[in-house]
Amino acid sequence: MTKVLVATEKPFAPVAVAGIEKIILEAGFQLVKLENYTSPAELINAVKDIDAMIVRSDIVSREVVNAAPNLKIVVRAGAGYDNLDLQACTDKSVVAMNTPGQNSNAVAELAFELMLYQARKGFSGKSGSELREKSIGIHAYGNVGQYVAKIAKGFGMKVYAFDPYISSQRMIDDGITPVSSAEELYGKCQYISLHIPATAETKKSINFDLLNRMQKGATLVNTARKEVIDEVSLLKMFAERKDFSYLSDIEPECKEQLATDFAGRYLLTVKKMGAQTEEANINAGLAAARQIVGFIKNGDKTYQVNK
Ligand code: 3PG
Repeated sequence: MTKVLVATEKPFAPVAVAGIEKIILEAGFQLVKLENYTSPAELINAVKDIDAMIVRSDIVSREVVNAAPNLKIVVRAGAGYDNLDLQACTDKSVVAMNTPGQNSNAVAELAFELMLYQARKGFSGKSGSELREKSIGIHAYGNVGQYVAKIAKGFGMKVYAFDPYISSQRMIDDGITPVSSAEELYGKCQYISLHIPATAETKKSINFDLLNRMQKGATLVNTARKEVIDEVSLLKMFAERKDFSYLSDIEPECKEQLATDFAGRYLLTVKKMGAQTEEANINAGLAAARQIVGFIKNGDKTYQVNK
C-alpha cells in the first residue's frame, strides 16, 4: 500500500491534518505523521519505507532522499522549495513539487501585521504613524507580492513593484506602478516588502547600496527568506541610518547584535509565522495531498519543480 508521510517540524493546524488524512485514506493510501520532531535523525528514520512525503520548511537533504528507497514524490506544502535538495531528488527519480499560491494571502497579511505593529509603536500608547499615503515597494510580484499590492491599495498606500519576470502591463492593470530596477524601487519607497525566493542569484542580494536608497523612515519587511539579506549591510544600515527599521518573519544570524545595539528598531517573529494560519494550512496541505494522489494514480506532474 502507498505510504504517505506528513513530516512537519512546525505542524499544520489539526483541521488541515484531518483534511490531508481524508484525501489520503479515500485514495486507498496509508498516512503516517511525524510532527514536532527536533532532529534530522528522526526524519531520516521516518522515511525508510514511505512512497510519498509532504513537508513544509523541513530540510529534505540528500541524506533524507537516500534514506527513502521507495520515495517517488515529495511535495513542499508551500511556495519556497529551497529546503529541498532538488538534485538529490532528480538523481533518485523523485518528483519534487510545491503548492504555489496556496499560502500567499497569509504571508501577505503578516507583512501588514508587522508594519502596523511597528507604525503604532508596538501599541505602547505612544503616538505612531499611518500607512495611508506612504510608499511601498514590492520586490517581486509573484503570488504573495500580488496580495500585498491589493492590501496596500486598501490602505491607500502608493504602490510600486519590481519584477523582471512579470510584465509592466500586468502591474498597471492591477493599479500599481511598475519600476524598471530594484535600485529605482528602493529609491522611491519608504517601505519595501521582500518576496524574492532564496536562489544562487538572490542570496545576499539585498545590500547596503540598495537599502541606503530608501526614503526617510526606511522600513524593510522580510517575509521571504533570511538568506537574501546581506547581514553585514543590514548592520551597516542600522548604524548609519537612524531612521531604519527591520521587520522580519525569519530571525537573522545577527539577531544578538541587533538586540545589543539596535533595540526597538526591529521586530522578529519567534518562529516563521507567515503561513501559519488554519486557512493557509488547509489550502497548502490539502493541495499537497491531492497532488500526491494525482501523481501516484495518474502520473500528473503539474507543479513539478525538478527536472
Ligand atoms: C513558503 O515558502 O511557503 C513559506 O515560507 C511558508 O513556510 P512554512 O510552511 O515553513 O511556514
